[in-house]
Amino acid sequence: MVGPTDRPLTVRGVAEADLPELHRIDRETFPEEPYPYFVLRQLYDVHGDRFLVLDDGENLHGYVLFVTTSDRYVCWGMSLAVTPDLRGLGLGRRLMVEALRRVRAEGVHRVHLTVEPTNAAAISLYRSLGFEVEAGVRKDYLGPGEDRLVMTLGL
Ligand SMILES: CC(C)(COP(=O)(O)OP(=O)(O)OC[C@H]1O[C@@H](n2cnc3c(N)ncnc32)[C@H](O)[C@@H]1OP(=O)(O)O)[C@@H](O)C(=O)NCCC(=O)NCCS
Repeated sequence: MVGPTDRPLTVRGVAEADLPELHRIDRETFPEEPYPYFVLRQLYDVHGDRFLVLDDGENLHGYVLFVTTSDRYVCWGMSLAVTPDLRGLGLGRRLMVEALRRVRAEGVHRVHLTVEPTNAAAISLYRSLGFEVEAGVRKDYLGPGEDRLVMTLGL
């Protein structure tokens, strides 16, 4: 695990060389179900320009991934992560605001994402950005026992 940073953090697009760091962040953030490296690799190959990372110049401390569907009007938030040592400092909001700014500028009309019904921090962040729950808890949405809320924002 990389320690906290006192270096200024920038939000930038991802590069291929970031993949090991991206994998580390994912394992620290989602220890029970991180993306396997090969999935991150494939997401990067297909949607590399859709990742934004938080960089202090030496290490990464978070990332967000938003993917637009082929109709170009609907976008899905696929992942949002801030490393545990840097939470509560406004960085998750910063990543979300920048990702939403970019998809809005591209003409996306609607953004969906899924979140665990018990994830109070993420739900509060999404609500504060205008996301609303679509249809209550979707049972087994991501597989057996993996209930999710689908939240939606109109842009
Ligand atoms: C969700 C997550 C990205 C938020 O990132 P963060 O940098 O800690 O969040 P911020 O400091 O930007 O806070 C933004 C808002 O989130 C909410 N929030 C953050 N931490 C919270 C907490 N512990 N409890 C309740 N709400 C919280 C608040 O609404 C906050 O707004 P405010 O500061 O105006 O009150 C981060 O907690 C995380 O990586 N969690 C693990 C991975 C995860 O759950 N990802 C989302 C999957 S859907």
